[in-house]
Amino acid sequence: MTGSPGSFIVVEGIDGCGKSTQAELLAIRLGALLTREPGGSPLGIEIRRLLLATEPDEVSDRTEALLMAADRAQHVADVIRPTLLEGRSVVGDRYIGSSVAYQGHGRGLDVDEVRDISEWATDGLAADLVLLIDVSVATAGRRRSDAPDRIEAAGEAMQHRVREGFLSEAAANTDQWVVIDGDRAVSEVAQSVNETVRARLGQ
Ligand code: TYD
Repeated sequence: MTGSPGSFIVVEGIDGCGKSTQAELLAIRLGALLTREPGGSPLGIEIRRLLLATEPDEVSDRTEALLMAADRAQHVADVIRPTLLEGRSVVGDRYIGSSVAYQGHGRGLDVDEVRDISEWATDGLAADLVLLIDVSVATAGRRRSDAPDRIEAAGEAMQHRVREGFLSEAAANTDQWVVIDGDRAVSEVAQSVNETVRARLGQ
């Protein structure tokens, strides 16, 4: 193998923040692989179905955290690490920050334990850059059109805790995370994303 590994850029945010649109635009601009969690590998598609389609009381909080971590382990092993080693960049729609925000801050599990499980699952693969597309819970609620999945159905108080969790992760890790105001037109948010990626990674 020749050349340097690709960059791993992750886009995070609450449900309805617009991160999937931004992740797609960024991946196209960079010629990067676009992938998502949960469900970024063949096994992960099965795990995603288990996680999101069941009734509210069927999945305990710890089971949810472990299934997210299992999905992530397979995703890194099957998709993310091999792609980076080929020299191609990867844009991930959600990664470890989502588990810290949703299962840690949202569900109330110990934040450091949740992070440790994911770091073990990924064998320490960290993102080079995490872009947090931040919108208010009210804005996100207005943008969501499809029926809520099991985690979205956990309600607005959970979304507030998740948003605060993302913001505190970003504030504690300013070398890795950048907060982008998502409450603007898609093209304006995309411009901020592009400026940030150029400034941080030269891409
Ligand atoms: P996502 O695919 O972003 O939602 P959508 O189908 O609306 O685009 O994520 C599905 C749900 O999974 C979302 O509510 C966030 C949740 N999630 C966690 O709770 N923890 C995690 O680690 C990840 C990756 C996602």
